[in-house]
Amino acid sequence: MQVDPKSPIGVFDSGVGGLTVVRALMERLPFENIVYFGDTARVPYGVKSVETIGHYTTQIAEFLLEKQVKLLIIACNTMAAVAAQQVQALSPVPVLDVIDAGAIGALAATRNQQIGVIGTPTTINSDAYAQAIHRSDPNVRVYSQACALFVPLVEEGWLDHPVTRLTAQDYLKTVLAQEVDTLVLGCTHYPLLKPLLQEVAGPSVRLIDSAQAMAQRTAALLKEQQIGNPNQSKPRYDFFVTDVPLRFQTIGERFLGRALPNVHLVKW
Ligand code: DGL
Repeated sequence: MQVDPKSPIGVFDSGVGGLTVVRALMERLPFENIVYFGDTARVPYGVKSVETIGHYTTQIAEFLLEKQVKLLIIACNTMAAVAAQQVQALSPVPVLDVIDAGAIGALAATRNQQIGVIGTPTTINSDAYAQAIHRSDPNVRVYSQACALFVPLVEEGWLDHPVTRLTAQDYLKTVLAQEVDTLVLGCTHYPLLKPLLQEVAGPSVRLIDSAQAMAQRTAALLKEQQIGNPNQSKPRYDFFVTDVPLRFQTIGERFLGRALPNVHLVKW
């Protein structure tokens, strides 16, 4: 399918967390228009069943395709873990997901071939990161840990709180005991915990921020397919949410690091 390079990039997530990916995209690709979808009425996805997540994910992808996006980015690790193939199957435009991007980043970073992965329970139970890493290098050892409490702690704004530190020490204990030299932050919310996680993990562990990895991957794809926006003017950003935008707006500005314009409510 012929895509229009001036069309927006469609980014979606279960709620506010995907704004970490939007932020990285805005910094890396400052002339790209972006349409974001956050399913704030049905978040969190990280503790839902594979069937439910698949159903919600395809519904959102179809919504964004109707907006004529030139590329779909699955910013939510949980959606990517269980429904990326469903999105690939229905999309006429390229689809990128955070798990592939994070796996590529981790493989490039590791020196001792021991990688840790943290994420929501659904992401970790799906084993999607280990599978993505092993597709490129079956000899790498992958140690995973579900960290269910991190999402609510981040949304509460407890980014450097003693409770978050203790929680992180406990969650990371087993993975760090395996002497991993690379740790994938396999959830949209975890980049906000980067300073704290780096302190807990120690300076010898490289943290892979899947939002940054995704922005790099997107820049490479736009170049490869020659679909970067030729207009070097101020881009347009639109944000669609499924629940009253107030909470999205307040928390979202923390995730995005700037004001959130053009927030629209979608009534399903
Ligand atoms: N966006 C989800 C992820 O990256 C975290 C929030 C949720 O559980 O829905 O896994």
